[in-house]
Amino acid sequence: MKNIILLGAPGAGKGTQAALICEEYNVPHISTGDILRRNIKEGTPLGVKAQEYIDAGALVPDEVVIGLVEDRLSAADCQNGYVLDGFPRTIPQAEALDKVASIDMAVNIDVPFDMIVTRLGGRRVCKCGATYHVSTLNGETKCKACGDDLFIRDDDRPETVQNRLRVYQDQTEPLINYYAGQGKLVNVPATGSIQEIFEDVKKVLE
Ligand code: AP5
Ligand code: MG
Repeated sequence: MKNIILLGAPGAGKGTQAALICEEYNVPHISTGDILRRNIKEGTPLGVKAQEYIDAGALVPDEVVIGLVEDRLSAADCQNGYVLDGFPRTIPQAEALDKVASIDMAVNIDVPFDMIVTRLGGRRVCKCGATYHVSTLNGETKCKACGDDLFIRDDDRPETVQNRLRVYQDQTEPLINYYAGQGKLVNVPATGSIQEIFEDVKKVLE
């Protein structure tokens, strides 16, 4: 397996596809959002620092996130490939990554903005990391994986979503050209079902 980046707007389905890829190819799923949220829950110094940015829908400062990804990529389980989800998110993050890693492909999960608002508006998550959408839960309020209560992510409130989308357009979308310029970009139109998109993602990875 390769070293892969998943690009895409908030709510495009990066986490959903990353989980499927990592299960299929048995590689680690490195989500900076998940790492930051875990630190917030545990009340670590990193979590305390990150919380105000995340709650506002802003980006956590580059130096903080770059440091944590560099640490994570040096772990033994990253030697046979990995999927980065939510990192890099700015050009300085991408440049820092190029200094410590050899990225094979950046897969852009491409979804129109109106569909994103629907995906985020109906997202339900579990402490165990599982992610669902109300449209497929049939009223179920417990996690299918672990039985715990599902909840709405704090930053999925409508006003925070609008800010996250603005931040994405300003700071993250330029990465599409950055990786296109390196010949590493693959665009995957992602308006279909989770499984249909996964079949397309597998084709580009293989
Ligand atoms: P992060 O956790 O990375 O959030 P994000 O980029 O906003 O993306 P999301 O996790 O919201 O969406 P996703 O693309 O993973 O979609 P999902 O699969 O859940 O970051 C959160 C915050 O942390 C940032 O705002 C920032 O503050 C900070 N941060 C993180 N990384 C950082 C960095 N590198 N630098 C600085 N700050 C950083 O799917 C969404 C919903 O749609 C779900 O309900 C899902 O079930 C549903 N769905 C998925 N696919 C489909 C489909 N095909 N059809 C129908 N529904 C679908
Ligand atoms: Mg995610």
